[in-house]
Amino acid sequence: MAKRYVLLLASALCVRGQGIDFDALDALNAETNGPHYNQLEGPFVAAAALPGYSDSLSLGNIAIEVPTCGSADTYLGVRIFTSGQFNTTRCLEACSGVGACQFVNVYNLRENSNLVGQFCALYSRAWDASYAYNVGQYRGNSLFTISDSYAFANLLRPATPAQCPDEECKREIVKCFNNGPAQASAYCSQLTPFTTTVATTTPTSTTSIATTVIVATQRTTQTITVTATQTVPSSTTTVSGYYTGNAQQAKRAPSSSSSIVVATPSCIATTNYPPDRITSACSCIGVPAKTVRVTQTAAAMTTTNTNTVRATTTVTVATTSVTTTVTVTGGVATATLPAATPSPLDFEAADQSGTWTWATNNPQGWDLGVVSTPDRTNQPTRAFRVVDSQYLGFAVLTSVQGFNLQPGATYQLSLLVQTTVLDAGNTASRIYLSMFSSTGNCGAAFNPISGGVPAGNGWYRFSFNFVVVQQQDTNCKIGVTYTRNQGTATHYVDNFSVAKISN
Ligand SMILES: *[C@@H]1O[C@H](CO)[C@@H](O)[C@H](O)[C@H]1NC(C)=O
Ligand SMILES: *[C@@H]1O[C@H](CO)[C@@H](O)[C@H](O)[C@H]1NC(C)=O
Repeated sequence: MAKRYVLLLASALCVRGQGIDFDALDALNAETNGPHYNQLEGPFVAAAALPGYSDSLSLGNIAIEVPTCGSADTYLGVRIFTSGQFNTTRCLEACSGVGACQFVNVYNLRENSNLVGQFCALYSRAWDASYAYNVGQYRGNSLFTISDSYAFANLLRPATPAQCPDEECKREIVKCFNNGPAQASAYCSQLTPFTTTVATTTPTSTTSIATTVIVATQRTTQTITVTATQTVPSSTTTVSGYYTGNAQQAKRAPSSSSSIVVATPSCIATTNYPPDRITSACSCIGVPAKTVRVTQTAAAMTTTNTNTVRATTTVTVATTSVTTTVTVTGGVATATLPAATPSPLDFEAADQSGTWTWATNNPQGWDLGVVSTPDRTNQPTRAFRVVDSQYLGFAVLTSVQGFNLQPGATYQLSLLVQTTVLDAGNTASRIYLSMFSSTGNCGAAFNPISGGVPAGNGWYRFSFNFVVVQQQDTNCKIGVTYTRNQGTATHYVDNFSVAKISN
């Protein structure tokens, strides 16, 4: 019977990897006016290599299916034989006849129980048994299955070493990396060693003349455990930072570098790229991941009553890394708490009870309180007002919260004042100003305040620099004392501030 075959070139598009080439099958059926099942004639011609080809690699009932991501361009099409004997040699001849063919996967295809034909899937590069994924496919209600699957590499056309632009898949990864070079290089440099099998040695047969064929590849994941040690102090002394006048913010402690994991760039995270593609793409951007090349020993099972030994080879295809952190204790740490930040000293809050307290020893003669009054720009603002209508007694205004001042440092204390009693040198002779703590004067005592600078709309700014005295309690409060005046006197104060100027 005449041999018929058809060669159809696959589209160069990046499509789902070639499993069963139904397009080629449809074209053949169209050419031959429909399918002709079970035309192959026995006996089965055992897999045998032509000179120049590798020994057959038996894949059992599984066909090569190259990864989704773009290796479709290594697929050169298929030759389908619907008559004659199942004979791998004619597939090898087909490969030799196609210029770029470097690899051929031969198998019988069945549609349900019907034999469709002998398929020779041709590729421009060799794929190893780890790409044997295709155990069959449904098409409509028909189940297409594989049997007698063998792979051969054309040794006369050695594989061109994979180069960066060669493979669509790697191109995609490199393109993705180029979107975010910094993340990509951080990601690549943290990849854990990738183990690749460069050779599989098969123990020499001990018993018989059996041929060893690899029927399955078992994938294992290797786990590397890294132990990081961190020391935490067994006790902590807490001290309080000094007030500076600026808002204090607790800084977040930097996390230990051993626990930083750079995320996989999102544009490749969704596709299941083989690890060696990723590490290879990392090389393209100049960050090669370490690759550990190992030689695996295939475990061979031998029997004497068959002439074929079916073996399983174990290949480590992925490495995961686990970081264990061991915590030990020792030593004493000093933690500096940020200085407490007192409330704003501008009387704008509706409730001053947490900020200011005031009192007089003569309530009949002194009226104290927070009122609305025109500010420096004649806009309403809230300020503390004292109206002294008798020449008897005194009044005080004190901040509730203290400022933890640094002994020896220079601070500036300032406030705005409007008063009906302003003497020469812009001295507000009825207003005394100080900062004090439970152990004494903090170095600030201005009795009375003088040297006010006009600030607009009848307001004066009084500013005083002072060096904080060394004493046990440095938690200093602001105190304003109002002394009696002959004739009614009205005083407003607003916008106190305390700020460190120098150490
Ligand atoms: C197998 O195919 C080859 C190449 O076409 C041919 O030379 C050989 O005779 C075939 N073997 C059998 C047993 O048909
Ligand atoms: C005090 O400061 C506040 C906020 O900056 C401002 O609105 C107000 O006018 C100031 N007080 C005076 C008397 O100018």
